[in-house]
Amino acid sequence: MNRITRTLSALSLAVLPLVSVVAQADDEDTIAYRKHIMKTLDEQTNAIGMILSGVIPADNLQLHMDAIATTAAMALRSFEPNVPGGDAKPEVWSNWEDFSARMADFEKKTANMARVAREEGPENAGELAIEALDCKSCHEVYNSKRSDDE
Ligand code: HEC
Repeated sequence: MNRITRTLSALSLAVLPLVSVVAQADDEDTIAYRKHIMKTLDEQTNAIGMILSGVIPADNLQLHMDAIATTAAMALRSFEPNVPGGDAKPEVWSNWEDFSARMADFEKKTANMARVAREEGPENAGELAIEALDCKSCHEVYNSKRSDDE
């Protein structure tokens, strides 16, 4: 065994227990996990808001957009387990086709926002950001607590 093979096999041994722990996530863990992802979106969106309102310099704008696009790509999977609870309405799962289409659309739009910002400059992605960061339209239908704020 060369050094790389040894390292990889040590790594896989280290990761195996993690995999089985994840397989035992209970409902509370499943709900906490999707909330962590949503909170990440919230923090990054608030940070962008501060930049767009001119309070904070725009140096990190691209990175915030990338962070939102990356987080959006994690969101759908976090709702895949059919575990009603938290503030998620049961309709998330009974209307899964609509919910997952909305989440996929959110993922696509945030990815496009980040790409245009990177290729054409963040100043050209403002309109796309407003359109992509439409969190409210999903919350209105699927979140029992946040329907009228954002
Ligand atoms: C396609 C639907 C959908 C989209 C898009 C979406 N959310 Fe959510 N969000 C949810 C649902 C459903 C919950 C409830 C999760 C729960 O409590 O289990 C939630 C919960 C939250 C929460 C509360 C987390 C907590 O700790 O209870 C925040 C904050 C949040 N979302 C922010 C955002 C932001 C910011 C965006 C947009 C940048 C966004 N969401 C986009 C569906 C969505």
